[in-house]
Amino acid sequence: MRKYIIAGNWKMFKTRGEAINFLLQVADKVPSSDLVDSVVCTQAPILRDCVKRQGDNLKVGAQNMHFKDSGAYTGETSALLLQELGVTYVIIGHSERRAMFNETDETVNLKIKQAFAFNLLPIVCVGESLEIREAGTTDEFVSNQVVKALEGISKEDVLDLVFAYEPIWAIGTGRTATPEMAEETCKTIRNTIAKVYDADTASKVRIQYGGSVNPANIDELLAEEDIDGALIGGASLDPEKFLTMVNAALKH
Ligand code: PGA
Repeated sequence: MRKYIIAGNWKMFKTRGEAINFLLQVADKVPSSDLVDSVVCTQAPILRDCVKRQGDNLKVGAQNMHFKDSGAYTGETSALLLQELGVTYVIIGHSERRAMFNETDETVNLKIKQAFAFNLLPIVCVGESLEIREAGTTDEFVSNQVVKALEGISKEDVLDLVFAYEPIWAIGTGRTATPEMAEETCKTIRNTIAKVYDADTASKVRIQYGGSVNPANIDELLAEEDIDGALIGGASLDPEKFLTMVNAALKH
């Protein structure tokens, strides 16, 4: 019932030419968006170039934006501008932004509200550090991130929001969470959404797993009940690998 969503997070990789090349190779080959949502999230300066070449079934996302409409925020990007450029998705609260760029649960919440105000679909990242995982407090920590992210978000809007569960220790490390581990925390996220709204609403919200996803492990992750897609860094940079991972969603 929930449509899979496979999103590439290109981080600070790819030149304009490389990004365009990727889209020329991939945009017409991704399956119909009736079957699976396919997304690539690029650096801000090339968003327009990528939107122009996205095709019908592949959509473009930004990796961040500011929560204010406009103002003296040097170096930031507004939601208005993303909307104007034709961007569809925006990643909010990636752990790299939380760790290195001062992103907090509060700014994540403000950015989600701002995204909805400008018709952008937020991909909201949550996930624990290795210390938290080892201390056995992952559920509590991630639930708290989810509750804070959803403060003041309406039941209608939350249906358009995508959560990405990304354990920090699994990002870029080649150390993926086992499917069981990923499922357990994705289920915790769904139960938390049910507590904030209701079970029916929670059953409709999509939850991705992210952290060293690649063509070899995506199948077993997508087979899990509460995992509705993947947010993929490194492996999404390669056109063939990206297509393999999008097509993996069709098997489930
Ligand atoms: P990775 O990154 O797939 O390279 O681990 C995932 C992410 O940071 O979204």
